Amino acid sequence: MRHRRLLAAGAVGTVVVAAALGISSAAGAAPSASAPRASAPRDEGAPDSLRALAAKIGLRIGTAVIPFDLNTPAYRDIVADQFSVVTPGNEMKWQVVEPTRGTYDWSGGDRLVKFAEEHGQLVRGHTLLWHNQLPAWLTTGVANGTISDTELRALLHKHVIDEVTHFKGKIWQWDVANEFFTDSNPSGINPNDFWVSHLGAGIIAEAFRWAHQADPHALLFYNDYNIAGEDGTNAKSDAVYAWLRQMLAEGVPINGVGDQGHLDTQYGFPTQMTQDLRRYASLGLKVAITEADVRTFVNNPTAQVPTDHLATFAQPYEFSQMLKACLAVRQCISFTVWGFGDADSWIPGFFTGEGYATIYDVNLQPKPAYFDLQQDLQLAAYGAPHRVHTDQH
Ligand code: XIL
Repeated sequence: MRHRRLLAAGAVGTVVVAAALGISSAAGAAPSASAPRASAPRDEGAPDSLRALAAKIGLRIGTAVIPFDLNTPAYRDIVADQFSVVTPGNEMKWQVVEPTRGTYDWSGGDRLVKFAEEHGQLVRGHTLLWHNQLPAWLTTGVANGTISDTELRALLHKHVIDEVTHFKGKIWQWDVANEFFTDSNPSGINPNDFWVSHLGAGIIAEAFRWAHQADPHALLFYNDYNIAGEDGTNAKSDAVYAWLRQMLAEGVPINGVGDQGHLDTQYGFPTQMTQDLRRYASLGLKVAITEADVRTFVNNPTAQVPTDHLATFAQPYEFSQMLKACLAVRQCISFTVWGFGDADSWIPGFFTGEGYATIYDVNLQPKPAYFDLQQDLQLAAYGAPHRVHTDQH
């Protein structure tokens, strides 16, 4: 039997991280760092939990969550004990929140927000403007011409305003726009993107303005994959960096940039990650790793045993390197994994033959990647000791 569920929903935030890091916000119109406003986080985790260790340096460790799986004790306990920020894997996407035109279903997002409030966690909202997981009524209407571009723009405006308003005050970071850049070299905003082709590239900035209007305190993020050198050429990072600089110069309220962090052991670890994160931060932006996982080839999608023995070393190594890239940049305020157990990961369903992508195994036992992240955070939390001096060379 193939045990695999789909990742889903979640959301809120606090002042603590941004304030602790003393980071100023980006654009003029951008919110102050005094974002979410949840009650002071209770330290739910044991002293050696990921969340407790990360808290010592003001970093939030996050995971994508399937909100309705929070009723399963083994799953719920790990979310509560190990993580200090949660994201709904699917439940804040348009397809889920408005399955029928004019009828909202906030149940998954609300469930996760409540859980977060009860466990001293913040929420990353994901995602408002994306070409994927749109409601069928919308894409069908556009395709058959019953929804004009003018109406499409009005529908998007309503969607952004209504969703951000529904969760107002409960979201720490919103992924306002997701995956707009091409994978080509040079890269740029994809002219064939659903939204761009109908409404023009300016619609992205509009979405940020609308989101800011609806919740002026939420930190607004641009989110994408392969934007920290994973493409090998750095072309995508160059394009996103140039675009962000332009948006900020125009006063668009963008506060942060998220690198999804979907890595694959067959490509090796991207060497530019720290520099790329630092370059975004130099614009005055926060940065985050938003969907970290490291996939590799496996025997089958159920057991997910790596077929190459070396992958069992490469997988935790790449997780560790990715966390270290974040740790090296003060403006990196959260590190989120895209689900924590291999049985729940989206990878086997989307990348044929691959799996083993998360930090817990199919039985929810911690893998080497978990212990590597824990050790990295331990060293970061307490400060690695200075080296001893020696006269020998
Ligand atoms: C994935 C979810 O995990 C799956 O459950 C869903 O079927 C498809 O989407 N980049 C993103 C995420 O920004 O929203 C995607 O999540 C994974 C890739």
